Amino acid sequence: MPRVLALVAVALLVVGWGAMAGAQERAGRDDGRDEVVRGGELFQAQCATCHGTRLEGGHGEGDLDGPPMTDLDIAYVDLTMRTGRMPVLAPEVGVRIDQLDDEQREAINAYLLATFDLPGEIPTVGAGEAARGQELYVRNCAACHGAAGDGGIAGGDNAVPPLAGLDPIALVEGTRIGPFTMPAFDESVLDVQQLDDIVAYLALADAAPRSAVGVRELDQVGEALFAIGLALLAAVVLWVVSRARRWSPAEPGSFARSEPFEPR
Ligand code: HEC
Ligand code: HEC
Repeated sequence: MPRVLALVAVALLVVGWGAMAGAQERAGRDDGRDEVVRGGELFQAQCATCHGTRLEGGHGEGDLDGPPMTDLDIAYVDLTMRTGRMPVLAPEVGVRIDQLDDEQREAINAYLLATFDLPGEIPTVGAGEAARGQELYVRNCAACHGAAGDGGIAGGDNAVPPLAGLDPIALVEGTRIGPFTMPAFDESVLDVQQLDDIVAYLALADAAPRSAVGVRELDQVGEALFAIGLALLAAVVLWVVSRARRWSPAEPGSFARSEPFEPR
């Protein structure tokens, strides 16, 4: 019985280790130059038709004429891709992607940062307190975005988009950037914690952040198998030790008398 368990434990360790190593290797491959190259291909195919190959702008027709992107904050570019506002679906000029997936979006970010050195950075989101967030949201955002973040109409008949359902990073990006007619909220108006609180409140309004199935999930499967393997192995060791204790009389010095180990 312990031998079978030990075998199972070892097998799980091997499989878990393999899965983790594989996931890490894939992640490593995605990190380097490959990502920048892929991002460049995506940008040239999905964005440059309207924004220009050097971000100079002015390449689309009429309504689709893209503004220059040379001085844009990377968080703003990221926001437009997270919300699905960019790219603009335009099959007539070869733009066929409606919503980029996480990997594509990150590759374009990597390309823009590496090639054009855009300012800014993608923000992070910490833990927040929804009750405090609700107060702050009502005071700062509800007038335009609606009491539950479901959007509305601002002055001059401008449509205001809903916020419920947006991923947390997009929420932070939008608040700090203030796209188009929206005022920007910098840290002197809403500090990092207050913004995290607002995000926590909006997460309650819609508890479904988007996440692509990818490396992270695979990694977790590997870790889980590895952990089960470790636990099993520990159980087997404990069991063997407890039996050994029961069988050998507690005789001081008995180890010293045993035969020295000789490799065969
Ligand atoms: C079919 C044309 C088209 C394509 C393709 C396109 N855009 Fe745009 N983009 C526009 C237009 C037009 C605007 C002006 C904003 C508006 O009216 O919605 C814009 C605005 C933007 C803005 C805001 C710029 C500002 O100054 O406010 C960003 C950022 C942006 N686009 C990024 C991208 C990225 C990244 C891609 C590729 C993933 C992309 N766009 C693809 C046409 C396009
Ligand atoms: C004066 C009205 C107004 C106020 C106040 C306001 N917003 Fe906005 N917000 C807008 C408008 C208008 C847009 C859409 C801009 C555009 O055309 O892209 C917007 C866009 C956004 C976006 C991007 C959403 C998307 O789908 O592109 C986020 C995120 C956002 N707001 C968060 C907030 C938060 C959080 C607050 C409060 C701290 C806030 N806003 C306060 C008017 C407002």
